[in-house]
Parts: sequence; C-alpha cells; structure tokens
Amino acid sequence: MGSKLKTYLRDPLLNQMFSEVRKAGPLKSILVDITHLCNLRCQGCYFFAEDLDAYKAPSDEGVLDTFIEQEKARGTNYVTVVGGEPSLQLDRLKKLYDNFWLVVVTNGLRKIPYDGFENMPIGISVWGDHETDTHLRGYGKIDVFDRSLKNFKDDPRAIWYYTTTPGNAHEIESVVDQCVANGNYVTFNFYGDVSSLGEKFDHTRGFEKVRREIDRAIQRHPDKILMSPYIAEVVSTGELFGQKWGYDVCPSVTFDNEINRERIKNGHPYNTHFRAYNPDLKTTRRCSVGNERDCSTCYDVYVHFAWIMLHMKRHLHTEKDFTNWLTTVYLFYLGNRIVDFEAGIKLLPSIHERLKTLRDEDSAFPSFNTHMIASGQTFNASHNISGYV
Ligand SMILES: C[S@@+](CC[C@H](N)C(=O)[O-])C[C@H]1O[C@@H](n2cnc3c(N)ncnc32)[C@H](O)[C@@H]1O
Ligand code: SF4
Repeated sequence: MGSKLKTYLRDPLLNQMFSEVRKAGPLKSILVDITHLCNLRCQGCYFFAEDLDAYKAPSDEGVLDTFIEQEKARGTNYVTVVGGEPSLQLDRLKKLYDNFWLVVVTNGLRKIPYDGFENMPIGISVWGDHETDTHLRGYGKIDVFDRSLKNFKDDPRAIWYYTTTPGNAHEIESVVDQCVANGNYVTFNFYGDVSSLGEKFDHTRGFEKVRREIDRAIQRHPDKILMSPYIAEVVSTGELFGQKWGYDVCPSVTFDNEINRERIKNGHPYNTHFRAYNPDLKTTRRCSVGNERDCSTCYDVYVHFAWIMLHMKRHLHTEKDFTNWLTTVYLFYLGNRIVDFEAGIKLLPSIHERLKTLRDEDSAFPSFNTHMIASGQTFNASHNISGYV
C-alpha cells in the first residue's frame, strides 16, 4: 500500500493536500453543548427530541475553566460547539475559541461579533428556502433564513450548514445562490425526520434528487461549496465499501461511556479520543446526536466525515478512492480552518474539477466499479480499464 500512496502523491494537487493535512496533524476531537438554552424550537431538532436540555449548563463559570484545562491536558485540540444555541453564550464561546480549533454551529438569529472571533468557522443552519425554513424553524412566523443572511452578510467566516430534505430538492438552487450572493460558503447536511413529519421531510424517501442538486450547485459555485459529491453520497446512502451505516460502525461514540462498551469491543474503528459532552460539562452521552437516537435516522455529516477518515486503508486501492478520501479529509480541515483557509480556498475549484473528471471517467466506463472490487466482488479482467491506467 505504501508504494501506491507514493505513486498517488506524485500528483501535485494530491501532494499539496496531503502535506497540509499531515502538517496540521491528527485531530483529537470532542463535541460540547455549550448551553442548554435555545431561542428556537425547530421541528425535529434532535437536541430537544431527547430532552438534552435537561442537563443544565453550570452557572459557575469556573466549571468551564476547569473543563478546558482538563481537556487540554487530555490532548483535545478540536471542539464542535453546539447546544442549544451557542450565540447566547459568547463569553463561554470565547473561552473555547481561545484554547482550541473549533467550529461553532448557530441558528444565525444573533450576530457573532468579529472582535475576538476573527478566524472562527461559523456554521449557520438553514433548513430550506424562506417558506420551508420559516415553517420548520420559525414557528411559521419568523423568517430565520432572512435574518441570518442579514446578520452574516459578507462575513467570510460563515459557512451555511444547509440541512436538506428529500422532497425539497428543488429549493436547493435558490437557497445556495442566496448564500453565495451573501458572500458566504456552503456545505450540506441531511434531515433526519426524528419527529415523523413525513411526506417531503421523510428521509426514507432517499436523497438522490438532493444529491443531483448538490452536484449542480458545485458546478455553479466551485469556489464556494465545501462538500464533495463523495461525502454527500456516503452520508445520504449510508454505504461505505460494503458497510452499512449504523451504531455498529459509527466511529463518533463516546469511547468511555458505559453505554458503548460492546460497541468499542466489536472491532470496527472508532475515534479513541471522542466524547460528546452534555451541557452540564460533566456527563457524556452515547454519541453526537443523543443517547437513544435510531442510527438509521442519523445523517450527521460530521460523524460520517469521521467514518470516511478512519477508513484510509480501504481507500488506497485506486487513485480515485484515494482522491475521494483525501478530498474528504482536506475539505474537513479547510472548512474548520485547521489548514490555511485563504490558500485552501484558492485550491477549491481545482479540487472540484478533479473530482468531476474522475466521475466523468467513471460514467464513461461504468463496468469498472471500485466499490465492487473493494467490497469483495470479483474483478472481471475483460473490463476495459485502459482509460484509468
Ligand atoms: C442542535 S443544533 C445546535 C446549534 C444551533 N442551535 C443550530 O441550530 O445550528 C446543531 C445542528 O444540528 C442540526 N439538526 C438538528 N436536528 C436535526 C435533524 N433532525 N436532522 C438533521 N440535522 C439536525 C441543526 O440544523 C444544526 O445544524
Ligand atoms: S435552533 Fe438549533 S438547538 Fe435550537 S431548536 Fe433549532 S436546531 Fe435545535
């Protein structure tokens, strides 16, 4: 495998991405709910679906200081900050920002100031166009998307974290174009219908149309979209080299929470550092999205990122697989500003162009399917592979 890697890395683009990721080093990540409070109650929000707000955030600020010191001593270097609504607790956010690489995810209703947070990646949630978003998140009255657009106008820290739904794929073009026109970046997430809204919000309908629209969005804005078609495919189909997404394979489980004891022993890779902390900063939960969540409803992009990342070896069989793996890792590091953001953004169109070329080649030779080979199916030597070698 070492020699294959060396061959792949003769390619300047792959080499550059690989070197930068290596220079930054491995991530030791945790998830922290910075507060139990929220100024919205979005329909189907996993946090309130499992009453995670019952774990109250400590009123004594000293608890956060101690927490930070403990996590630094443990080697933590990256924090996903969620909640509740993090923008309600800027002083706590600032303490975390000053000590770790982090991404904060916000509903966008409140501005996050520049001063003190200059280089902080901000994921702003949106769940559809103005009508859909108002319906799902704004009690049918507040146009949350519109307010967020205004709050983060021309803010280069802002990356829209667009939670898409199967029946609303037709909204993607307009939502993305508005986010880009607002001077921001875009990535995607997939709605898990935990409160059984059904119909167009029902994840079991599949995200094929959504993925087609994501592809089109990438073609329109290759300098602004921080997601690859491969990531979208793995997250939305829950398939990776013959594995099927579920609790048994999910790598982002709290490694030392008793609830995960059997999972940790089952032989599938897991993040050996990861903990998902409840707002009390003392207790942990099973995984990023709860204790009891049915994993077949989980399309959380961050935990699927980790799934792909931890399967590097499986991606070394072909240059295409390796490119998919490396671009996944690189886009994660880039979006989270772990590698140089300005330099990385300049590479983005070349990355998307490369991925498109690989996919076009694939559709020209559909019989050569790397996933089939990797999942143990026999490779038929009569297939025409000359286009690949
Ligand atoms: C629980 S929220 C907390 C942060 C912040 N209050 C916000 O809304 O962005 C974290 C992320 O989970 C996403 N989310 C919540 N429920 C979800 C669901 N059922 N399916 C997919 N994403 C969901 C939100 O859109 C948001 O991006
Ligand atoms: S704003 Fe965030 S935490 Fe609050 S209800 Fe909506 S998704 Fe949940």
